[in-house]
Amino acid sequence: MKNKVSIIGAGMTGATTAHWLAEREVSDLVLVDVVEGMPQGKALDLQQALPVIGKDVKVIGSNDYASTAGSDIVIITAGLPRKPGMSRDDLLYANAEIVRKAAEETIRYSPDAIFIILTNPLDAMSYLAMKATGVAAHRVIGQAGILDSARMRAFVAMELGVSVENIHCYVLGGHGDEMVPLTRASNVAGVPLEDILTADRLEAIVDRTRKGGGEIVSLLKTGSAYYAPAVAIAQMVEAILKDKHLIVPASAYLQGEYGLTGLFFGVPVQLGRKGVEKVIEYKLSEAEMAALQKSAQGVAENIAKLK
Ligand code: APR
Repeated sequence: MKNKVSIIGAGMTGATTAHWLAEREVSDLVLVDVVEGMPQGKALDLQQALPVIGKDVKVIGSNDYASTAGSDIVIITAGLPRKPGMSRDDLLYANAEIVRKAAEETIRYSPDAIFIILTNPLDAMSYLAMKATGVAAHRVIGQAGILDSARMRAFVAMELGVSVENIHCYVLGGHGDEMVPLTRASNVAGVPLEDILTADRLEAIVDRTRKGGGEIVSLLKTGSAYYAPAVAIAQMVEAILKDKHLIVPASAYLQGEYGLTGLFFGVPVQLGRKGVEKVIEYKLSEAEMAALQKSAQGVAENIAKLK
């Protein structure tokens, strides 16, 4: 039987996720949105693109959660994006209602689904989705780390003129401006970034990575980034459905790892058919650990507000 993936919110990130996923041909797709006709129109358009690239994927658009029944994975992208000058945290209350409803509705129709959350503020929304669905923690994963790491990889590639394939970067922590790019662990073809770039250039890349989402928001003026967030979700979906045991940074529920408990937070996780198979604990320096703790404070404050 074919896999089924439902995407709640057929806006910029939701529709682009469907696009990247259809190219990978890993599942049939359902797009759900509150706007009448829009998910149906986008689904039909995408369906009509697939003969050109030879992919057999059924794409359905709907305003009704019943269409999501029996999903293997539910992706939640519904909610407001940032406007220029806003932080992701400014979206907390408005998006909490939307994510809660999406979680409650989808779990009814897909009791065995794994949930991938994209709506911001990401770590708090992942926590909310876990509570609203009542599923075990390993079945809820927030997308942020692949995106933040890819941004850093892109900036390093631009700086050095080296293939992106050679560049490995790891960004942990909450999905906000206090995120923690790990410059010691990041490398170009095995050589640590700290050995290649001057401290100044490295600091500039770290800073641009931390503010990477905001840079795009201020350029777009309406809405936030969608190509890179969406392809990051597609990678997670493929890793789960193919049971790849892929290690990526993502937001997972911590129960003592990195000295943190009771919050979703960006850490390296191993993804497979069960969802989060394992949280990987890196050996961090004192400075890295302190930066993570600082980032965790912001996430914990958001979660406290939700409670
Ligand atoms: N149920 C389903 N869809 C909803 C609901 C709801 N209750 N409320 C809003 N939506 C839909 C909107 O109609 C819109 O089509 O969510 C979609 C959001 O799409 P965009 O406005 O294009 O926003 P997008 O860029 O996709 O970002 C969505 O992801 O990355 C995060 O910060 C971003 O929180 C934001 C979310």
